[in-house]
Amino acid sequence: RPAPQMMELTDRQEIARGVYSVRLIPDGPMPRAVPGTFLDLLPGGLHVLRRPLSIADADEEGYTLIFRVVGRGTDELSRAPLGARMDVLGPLGHGFASDSVQSGQRALLVGGGVGIPPLYLLGRRLVERGVQVQFRLGFRSRNDIFWADEFSQLGEVLISTDDGSVGTRGTVAQIAETDAARRFVPDIVQACGPIPMLKWVKSALAPTVRTQLSLEERMACAVGACYACVIGDAGDPDHQFRVCYEGPVFEAEEVVL
Ligand code: FES
Repeated sequence: RPAPQMMELTDRQEIARGVYSVRLIPDGPMPRAVPGTFLDLLPGGLHVLRRPLSIADADEEGYTLIFRVVGRGTDELSRAPLGARMDVLGPLGHGFASDSVQSGQRALLVGGGVGIPPLYLLGRRLVERGVQVQFRLGFRSRNDIFWADEFSQLGEVLISTDDGSVGTRGTVAQIAETDAARRFVPDIVQACGPIPMLKWVKSALAPTVRTQLSLEERMACAVGACYACVIGDAGDPDHQFRVCYEGPVFEAEEVVL
């Protein structure tokens, strides 16, 4: 089991309806975060359950996390005072292979809802390596959109909303039918979001281009000990992967969705 360390909350903002970003600065030396890995936080107060939250950005000083308020733990975190100190595990899990794409190649990053945050750090690392990036981001509505400006500093951003209030009406599947999407022929696809979106990515894109998927399975222990987060192994019907430990990022053909 990895050792927890204390981190200080130094910034917190509501960046969209019910969606928050928080900045955490660790007390000690911090491991370099691979995009797609996550931190497991004890929000503090009376809370005894850790919350796995994805890393949206990281630098030499600390981590930026983005999360939606979905229950008591995330609600407490969204109201924690600046300066609060938290017990944190991580970065945990196996992330996206940002080193396997070469300078001059093209990466298509597809995200839905709260699956979108890890694509920012991934995009930033890819752009640093000279990779050209296109983002296709699916939100419910105008008020749910976050970091559109930050993403557009890294590459082209194509947005869909369920209600059509911004961008293409529908999901990232409908974005694929636009001219801007058709023009971008990727060398790799990297996606994070809800299972229905990942199923579409796997069936529509994975047959022709290397595709990595980050799964958002419900987690309990987050360190590979409880098997609450398993998903089927496409290569062996008798075996399952632990999303928190062998994942959350997998090659599309490895997993049964
Ligand atoms: Fe316990 Fe993954 S959450 S094994």
